[in-house]
Amino acid sequence: MNNEIVLITGANRGLGLATAEALAKQGYQVIISARKQQALDELAQRFTKAGLKIDTLLMDVASDQSVQQAKKIIEQRYGKLDCLVNNAGVIIESNYEFTNLPSQVIADTFNINTLGAIRTMQAFYKLLAKSKNPRIVNMSSGMGAITDMNSGYMAYRISKTALNVATLQGHQELHDKYKIRVMALCPGWVKTDMGGPNATRELAEGISGIIWAVNTPANGPSGKFFRDGVEIPW
Ligand SMILES: NC(=O)c1ccc[n+]([C@@H]2O[C@H](COP(=O)([O-])OP(=O)(O)OC[C@H]3O[C@@H](n4cnc5c(N)ncnc54)[C@H](OP(=O)(O)O)[C@@H]3O)[C@@H](O)[C@H]2O)c1
Repeated sequence: MNNEIVLITGANRGLGLATAEALAKQGYQVIISARKQQALDELAQRFTKAGLKIDTLLMDVASDQSVQQAKKIIEQRYGKLDCLVNNAGVIIESNYEFTNLPSQVIADTFNINTLGAIRTMQAFYKLLAKSKNPRIVNMSSGMGAITDMNSGYMAYRISKTALNVATLQGHQELHDKYKIRVMALCPGWVKTDMGGPNATRELAEGISGIIWAVNTPANGPSGKFFRDGVEIPW
């Protein structure tokens, strides 16, 4: 048991949920956050039955108010945070091209995938600064890598490229001042609701790099982009 506190956003299904279960089994105090209370209640029951020590927290990363409320709750319950995993993400476009992608779809995607992570980094850095090994893991995607850019899913790509920039900015400000390490990750193409059934990776493979990043020590990496624990180009 290591008793470190890990908060995961958008963790009611997919990579976030699988990561939560794996980290709880490693002895972390995991806080699953999600935007739907019913999903959290169902998960809480399931984990209690399985004997897993997992806490739940309502947080919609698209809302400043919800993130601030969640921060107050963590502050009261735990007084600190060791690791923040910014996992919540969406793809809300389909069948659009550059020429007809509605600006609202870009804005809505950006509000969750990019601003969501910025909101939580801004809200939680002071609680992270109280940890001996504070780290932030931003779930990005190779689809946002400007050195490996293809066409399609433009809103998603823009949101993840911008998340990578926010990771670097976070690293520069938070690592120097507060020793908070900030990393971006790509899990590969994983079979989840987002990745779909044709994805090349099972959940266990997809989360292995996330587990690796959470387990990096206080002198570990910051300001870098990883897949499977190996640095990749931005
Ligand atoms: N799967 C892949 O192949 C792949 C590849 C590269 C990167 N990623 C990234 O990995 C992360 C997890 O993806 P996934 O495949 O596990 O996707 P997923 O199965 O679709 O799960 C996404 C999660 O994000 C939550 N979410 C969405 N908007 C939210 C909001 N405003 N506030 C809080 N939670 C919110 C969803 O909650 P609801 O149930 O309420 O919708 C859900 O729990 C994402 O950031 C994704 O971009 C995935």
